[in-house]
Amino acid sequence: MLRYALGACLSVLVAVLFFPPDWSVGWGGESQKVAPARLLSRSDLSLYDGEKGSRGLYLAILGQVFDVHKGHKHYGPGGGYHFMAGKDSSLAFITGDFTESGLTDDVSSLSPLEVVALYDWLDFYHKEYQHVGLVVGQFYDETGQPTEALLEVEASLAEGQKLKAQSEAEKILFPPCNSEWSSSRGKRVWCSTKR
Ligand code: HEM
Repeated sequence: MLRYALGACLSVLVAVLFFPPDWSVGWGGESQKVAPARLLSRSDLSLYDGEKGSRGLYLAILGQVFDVHKGHKHYGPGGGYHFMAGKDSSLAFITGDFTESGLTDDVSSLSPLEVVALYDWLDFYHKEYQHVGLVVGQFYDETGQPTEALLEVEASLAEGQKLKAQSEAEKILFPPCNSEWSSSRGKRVWCSTKR
């Protein structure tokens, strides 16, 4: 019996040595490998503006591409935000400048707190729409790695988050106060007890 057991163990060992298992494949047989991101050039992305004959309806924010077909009423032809379709207009999410020059992915003019607000939009798209890939250019290079510009935006995000946390903490310590003056009552100062 012991000989059989030893023999079986030995066979498994030999099999593993000569035919190493692909550990990236899960027990159910499904692959655990993360699919490489789909990379789109700016001109690829422009083919997804939802116009007749286009390939679909996408938009990008901070170089991340989302399929916004579900929001066709906003982004499709005739929609109030159609100008965002088929492009990365990250800056306009904060400035509200929807002119041609405002619809740009150059966000270097944003303050750290504005960058935090831009990432709130990015979270919104992750929650509401399907992420389909990355745009090669401003934020990702041709291998899908973050560019220097993205690293700078991320540094600004970290600074903005710190500032936001500080300001929240100060609001707890120093609740906002108000004052008024009237000839009958004189000066009156009162502070909010709420954040
Ligand atoms: C920086 C300025 C603004 C930006 C970047 C912006 C952007 C957007 C975007 C991207 C959507 C579509 C969201 C989705 O996919 O569901 C949206 C929806 C909408 N926005 Fe704006 N918006 C701005 C200012 C405004 C202002 C000032 C108003 C009103 C006076 C407004 C009213 C609306 C309304 C009513 C919707 C539709 C909500 C719905 O039907 O679900 N937006 N906005």
